[in-house]
Amino acid sequence: MGGGQLGRMLSVAAAQLGYRCHIYAADANSVAAEVAAEFTCALDEDIGSLTRFAESCDVITFEFENVPVGPLHEIENCAPLHPPIAALDIAQNRVAEKNFARDHRGTTAPFAEVSDRPSLERAIAEIGAPAILKTIRMGYDGKGQSRIQPGDDLDQHWDAVGHQPCVAEGFVSFSHEFSVILVRAQDGEIRFWDTPHNRHEDGILAASVAPAPDPILQQQDAARDLAAQMAETMNYVGVLTCEFFATDDGPIFNEMAPRVHNSGHWTIEGAVTSQFENHIRAICGLPLGDTSLAAKRVEMHNLIGAQADDWQALLADDANHLHIYGKGVSRPGRKMGHVTKLYF
Ligand SMILES: Nc1ncnc2c1ncn2[C@@H]1O[C@H](COP(=O)(O)OP(=O)(O)O)[C@@H](O)[C@H]1O
Ligand SMILES: [Mg+2]
Repeated sequence: MGGGQLGRMLSVAAAQLGYRCHIYAADANSVAAEVAAEFTCALDEDIGSLTRFAESCDVITFEFENVPVGPLHEIENCAPLHPPIAALDIAQNRVAEKNFARDHRGTTAPFAEVSDRPSLERAIAEIGAPAILKTIRMGYDGKGQSRIQPGDDLDQHWDAVGHQPCVAEGFVSFSHEFSVILVRAQDGEIRFWDTPHNRHEDGILAASVAPAPDPILQQQDAARDLAAQMAETMNYVGVLTCEFFATDDGPIFNEMAPRVHNSGHWTIEGAVTSQFENHIRAICGLPLGDTSLAAKRVEMHNLIGAQADDWQALLADDANHLHIYGKGVSRPGRKMGHVTKLYF
């Protein structure tokens, strides 16, 4: 379910193992459908189409964490669905997500829920500024966020998030950002990829590098334990990604994605088995593949907007592996492709 680049890369990995993918997406220009065997173009809420789709499948997964859970409950008995709906329930709600991490003794940024203008005032009085106001639902790539500086007029930030229910988060002063990417099989086995060091620009991932520098590696075990425990609790099957800030007080959990993740794209060439292949293996009940690094150093750079136009120059470098997603229209801030550099 979902028709974007993650679905595209999952479909390619599945095809290599001999599977036929059936993409279900609302957008007729699906870059996943382009490389898949079948395509249903319909809304998630169209229960008739969704049921016909589900009945045609042996196993169902999603590449988009904002699939509405109501319709998923309608197709629960048609085919196994991995990862579990419970993971979506948590990941779709920033408050539930932070509370879930705290329930597993994880540390999060200080936060307060904001439901209206007066509660925004109270939240900022409580947690202070700088802070980040984030919509509780539907945020991605830094969208639905507003950064609050001391003394700012809060009206302007409340307008910026469209008066949606929000969480106000204290600004974390971190030295690095990183993600734990794990895969959990149906028998409960968990494997981790090397931890990438992630760099964001304007709230969008710009680059991921593995292996990570020492300050991240020192916090890796604690972050992995938290991610693994959360996966166990959810009885999770598939790839799970948790984003962290490395700070002087240890790893701070930021958010989780119940799916393959942009910070794991480097695993296609940079690991023995990619996140996409292992996700397919996990949901199909197959043995997991080796997650070790396949080079001394791997860098993934996203190609955002016009950065993807320079593909001839990118291909001229022997270290580069180029991925272009085939999205027709380039827009500033749109992920058009990525390039992975391997160093041996
Ligand atoms: N509390 C915070 N303190 C400092 N930086 C933050 C905080 N929350 C988010 N950011 C920055 O913004 C980026 C995007 O925020 P995130 O919560 O991951 O939202 P999204 O769902 O859009 O990925 C983060 O990767 C980080 O660089
Ligand atoms: Mg994020």
